[in-house]
Amino acid sequence: EWWADERKSQTPESKAIEEAANLLRTNDIPVAFPTETVYGLGADATRSAAVQGIYRAKQRPSDNPLIIHVDSLDMLDRLLNPAQTSPSATKTPRISLPQIYVPLVERFWPGPLTIILPNPSGSELAPEVTSHLTTFGARMPSSPLARLLIHATDRPLAAPSANASTKPSPTTAQHVYHDLQGRIDLILDGGSSGVGVESTVVDGLCDPPAILRPGGLGITELRTVPGWEHVTVAYKDGTLDIKEIPRAPGMKYRHYSPKARVVLFEAGSSLQGVTRHVKKDLQDSAIGAHNIGIVRTRNWKQGLGLAPDDEVANTVKPVTAPIDDLVSFPVPVQGTGNQNSRTKLAYDYHLGSDTNSIAHGLFAVLRALDEVGVDVIYVEGISDRDGDLAAAVMNRLRKAAGSEMKV
Ligand code: TXA
Ligand code: MG
Repeated sequence: EWWADERKSQTPESKAIEEAANLLRTNDIPVAFPTETVYGLGADATRSAAVQGIYRAKQRPSDNPLIIHVDSLDMLDRLLNPAQTSPSATKTPRISLPQIYVPLVERFWPGPLTIILPNPSGSELAPEVTSHLTTFGARMPSSPLARLLIHATDRPLAAPSANASTKPSPTTAQHVYHDLQGRIDLILDGGSSGVGVESTVVDGLCDPPAILRPGGLGITELRTVPGWEHVTVAYKDGTLDIKEIPRAPGMKYRHYSPKARVVLFEAGSSLQGVTRHVKKDLQDSAIGAHNIGIVRTRNWKQGLGLAPDDEVANTVKPVTAPIDDLVSFPVPVQGTGNQNSRTKLAYDYHLGSDTNSIAHGLFAVLRALDEVGVDVIYVEGISDRDGDLAAAVMNRLRKAAGSEMKV
């Protein structure tokens, strides 16, 4: 038959995309897919039942709105101009993309940027998507697999990060499987997400425009665009003195948190001071640090000085795994991990010293350390001033840790 030949000519990828698109059109169970930032948990943004499926699978609070993913400006235009039915409505002028966003999307779409738009009256978006706000967030991902999926589905896809609510965002299909197995039917596997932190969320409807969430696209780059020279920061962060309540509803929740306690050290903390701190924690039974994780970035090059000649360090066995193994989960770290043995295990990871590799491995390392069952994770922070992606990394780490310390 002709269609049998058609099918044969399809690649495994296009078959998988077709299967995912079919589920998205007909099912109310969300489908996970890769994007360049993190994996998303997608549903047809125009169907309430499908969107409710996202909140259910993630156990996400319903007052936290979702980002709409489009494959083209055409699809966005259709969202801004829903089908007008009454005759008088045909006189309604077309709504175009607000001017402030035109040079921005020209420059940065597709990519890790989400823009806030007015939700038109008669909107096709399910009300659950916007958590009943009068605006919606939209982005065009640069991941080809993501855009092909949206195109094949021929619907805008609502998609939050595909983690269980409060957990670190997933950057591999395995992370998604770990959190959502049994709750969803299909994950499109596109390998590990390049950027590793979520999109930057901006609001250009206010004056001056504002960044609601730092992410893959930085403030320096934003400021090079006409109309965005004075973009302000409207998210709450440890080092930034911002009085406003967070305006992206999602920013107020506990977030990015592994099971283990995260202790974040400010960039430039002395290695000696950190080592002393870690040793004290290992001795203090109230803290109960048994197995620990150490995440090194720019300066803790040699690792902590848990030298074998000292009493505490003697009971600590260092375990090191290369970052590539870790990103491709499950982590093949050695060590018994036996909670009853007297040996404490210190899982030691170096994320690399350049910001891209730190962002890329950040969520994966937190997940991997949870997987091996550490009690505390000590993280070497980086300076917010090292650039915008660095600021996004520190934003996620501060949320995971709750606070930051300097020694
Ligand atoms: O990179 C990303 O943006 C990923 C991938 C999957 O695209 N998605 C993602 O979605 O991070 P989610 O749901 O985890 O985060 C969405 C953020 C939340 O902080 C939410 O409050 C904010 O965007 N947001 C969504 N719609 C909004 C709106 N209308 N006004 C203000 N903030 C909004
Ligand atoms: Mg999220």
